[in-house]
Amino acid sequence: MLWVISEGYAPGRIAVPRPTVAICRTCPRDTAKPSARGENPDGMAAELRSALLADRHLGGGIDVMMVQCLGACRRPCAAALSAPGKWRLRFEDLSPRILPDFIAATRAYEATLDGRLGDRDLLPSLRERLGALAPPPASPRRAS
Ligand code: FES
Repeated sequence: MLWVISEGYAPGRIAVPRPTVAICRTCPRDTAKPSARGENPDGMAAELRSALLADRHLGGGIDVMMVQCLGACRRPCAAALSAPGKWRLRFEDLSPRILPDFIAATRAYEATLDGRLGDRDLLPSLRERLGALAPPPASPRRAS
């Protein structure tokens, strides 16, 4: 929840859209040996999910969704942040070593109004793993 006080308007509050973290549960699909392919063979997706849900700062303020693929199969593990009205960010090549950085970025993303993360919010370890950015969908046009 974000409190907004604007000049000329009574103080009020607006609801910041609740973010979703989509985590690919089938990585690595392209790089693993056939015998190792399947549901989260390296455990990273499950580890990421558990860490996000256990983070007390996020505290239930996000939704975590396990998905089949995020289109980053050559650089597992992949996860994407999205929310209504916000930019969608897809990260690739996530590993346990940078898990705390990803959680910090998720916290920062949750607090933004538009989903854009500045240099302070996006550590170098994640900047190089930001594989795709997509703007929020345009508002539907009204018939005139
Ligand atoms: S299998 Fe994980 S991004 Fe495609």
